[in-house]
Amino acid sequence: MEKKMIRKALRCFIAAALISVTAACMTAVCCAEDSSSSADAAAATQNVTVNKVSRLSVSRSGKAATLNWGQSAGADGYLVFAFVGSKWQLKTETTDFSFTLSDIPWDTSLFGVKAFKEENGIRYLSDMRTVSRSAPALGKVSGLYAAETKERSIKLSWNKLSNCDGYAVYLKYTEGYKEIAKTTANTYNVTGLEPSWRRHFVVRAYRKTSNGGYLYGAYSDQLRTATCPDTVSGLRSSKKSGTSITLVWNKLACTNYIVYQMMSDGKWHRIAKPVTNSYTVTGLNYNTNYKFVIRACKLDDYKKEHLGWLSNILTVKTDRNTIVVKNGITYVNGILIANKTYPLPASYNPGKLTDETYKAFIQMRNAAANDGYNLWICSGFRSYETQRYLYNNYCARDGKAAADTYSARPGHSEHQTGLAFDINYASSWFDNTAEARWIANNCWKYGFIVRYPKNKQNITGYKYESWHVRYLGKELAKKVYDSGLCLEEYLGITSKYSY
Ligand code: DAL
Ligand code: ZN
Repeated sequence: MEKKMIRKALRCFIAAALISVTAACMTAVCCAEDSSSSADAAAATQNVTVNKVSRLSVSRSGKAATLNWGQSAGADGYLVFAFVGSKWQLKTETTDFSFTLSDIPWDTSLFGVKAFKEENGIRYLSDMRTVSRSAPALGKVSGLYAAETKERSIKLSWNKLSNCDGYAVYLKYTEGYKEIAKTTANTYNVTGLEPSWRRHFVVRAYRKTSNGGYLYGAYSDQLRTATCPDTVSGLRSSKKSGTSITLVWNKLACTNYIVYQMMSDGKWHRIAKPVTNSYTVTGLNYNTNYKFVIRACKLDDYKKEHLGWLSNILTVKTDRNTIVVKNGITYVNGILIANKTYPLPASYNPGKLTDETYKAFIQMRNAAANDGYNLWICSGFRSYETQRYLYNNYCARDGKAAADTYSARPGHSEHQTGLAFDINYASSWFDNTAEARWIANNCWKYGFIVRYPKNKQNITGYKYESWHVRYLGKELAKKVYDSGLCLEEYLGITSKYSY
């Protein structure tokens, strides 16, 4: 009688197990209720025992678990179980010694196998052998970065992580990090942000549990990034001269601005990064169009730039130079000029170098001596008459066309101004000497420029003269030197004979 009760109880257990069997497994499991009551009677006399499977191991790969077990002598097959939520679920029936359960809940870590035997249509089960193995640990999200930053949004991206169902994204507020989204992709576009703001994010992976909860991996390293500033508006020029333009624009929230100038290569070049909404561009040419655009920049904690859109393009023309002729002498922006376009009257005769020019030469000569170089003036002031004599001799020797490339016609020589002179040797032999190099690099400090530089013959009207310097005063000499322009270019004038 007692055995009968046990078998009844067993049947009840199988029936209960079957309720939780999945549809796929249903056909594989036979129903004990089909057996007749005569089987009960037979079993009652047979004393059937089924041994547990001899061993059971499990290996995990993501949501899959592969079970392997050892034979149970005389068994007809095996039932495979997983402990899901708070109860055992029958997963399959097999005659094999191995089975892979796929897509089991992440928090399921307990598995079991029972052997069974069938006699006279009755199924007898062994006790369950169990084994426990958790799912692989949920890793830390790595490689979090800002794939794109805009004024009001930041697109985050990170490395895909296996063994997770998705990712939770957190944004830092003053109170701390708050979850702002869950996503199954390894990117997320955070919207609704303010322009020009530093923003910190972390991401962690999650798994859904069998009861609808979440399990989380470790937080990623912090990503410290920023939104871009708004677009700069109102770009205009507030002041200009022949050689400079002051740009101003409307202030906005940012770390600094970036000023771009259109250069002769047809491209925009960064020329400055002012922190205030104004910038003066210097060293420009007279009467020339220039183009500028501005954008704002927000630096994040790593000093990475997040840039706003470019402003409107501003085109500004520098002022014309002012040319004044007084007593036959031409002054361009106050600078006395003698070249092929602008002659001096024959009567103009200071008789020697001006005191200021000579004093500046002495300073330069002393500085050069300190550096180990010996400078002297080989030709200083030359009168109109002296120049006529020289020029005529050169014409007789080399012809007029050739003479015009290296010797000024009377009235057109800078030597007549008393502001220019030749150093050491007025010959191309001087070009590659250490003294010529010293002059090229240092004369601006004493108020001089090399007046006929290399590769400017079509502008100055003369071949390169490494020895000929012109006094401009320290301030202007530095500006001309820094501009890299010859004096004609710097002042926006020509040097061409009209006869
Ligand atoms: N050699 C220069 C150009 C002059 O004759 O003035
Ligand atoms: Zn000279």
